[in-house]
Amino acid sequence: EESKLQLVSRHIRAFPDFPKKGILFRDICPILKDPAALTAVIDLFEEHVRKNHQHVDLIVGLDARGFLFGPLLAQRLGTGFILIRKKGKLPGPTVSVAYDLEYGKAEAEIQEDSVTPGQKVVLIDDLLATGGTLFAACELMKRLQAEVLGCLVVIELKELSGGDKLKPHSVFSLVQY
Ligand code: PRP
Repeated sequence: EESKLQLVSRHIRAFPDFPKKGILFRDICPILKDPAALTAVIDLFEEHVRKNHQHVDLIVGLDARGFLFGPLLAQRLGTGFILIRKKGKLPGPTVSVAYDLEYGKAEAEIQEDSVTPGQKVVLIDDLLATGGTLFAACELMKRLQAEVLGCLVVIELKELSGGDKLKPHSVFSLVQY
């Protein structure tokens, strides 16, 4: 019988030369379109978090595809969900951090009051490439004095060594390329 991981991997597509020449884009849209595959993703994340982290206060989703999985996981765990967005999207007092992307530059931003000092958080995104995005997110958590328990991604691109960049924070990925 097919495992949850096999079900998830079967619902990831690859598009060569998107959004730029030389980039092989891994697309998670088929996961969202298939209820069983989406349930499997959340099941696997939930199992991992329950097994490895005693207490989680908040799930932190990264713009934009972290928003697709984060709230579902937060509901399963009975925690809140907060957002890190691309700069300029959030109202009120914010903190921001600049970072380099696999293809370009960006700035990550969070509302200052979204997390309080000492809160334990788990970060979530669809994909780990160079680690620039999750690194910036960890930096924002540090600025707000939150404790990062770990990072969750559906896909990890191993050859780009994002996991090393994020050390000592742990990364849990479902599918690796
Ligand atoms: C992609 C992906 C991750 C990030 C990973 O998002 O969804 O968030 O890149 O790359 P990194 O590990 O090298 O930082 P992108 O920045 O393209 O933005 P989007 O979610 O708004 O499409």
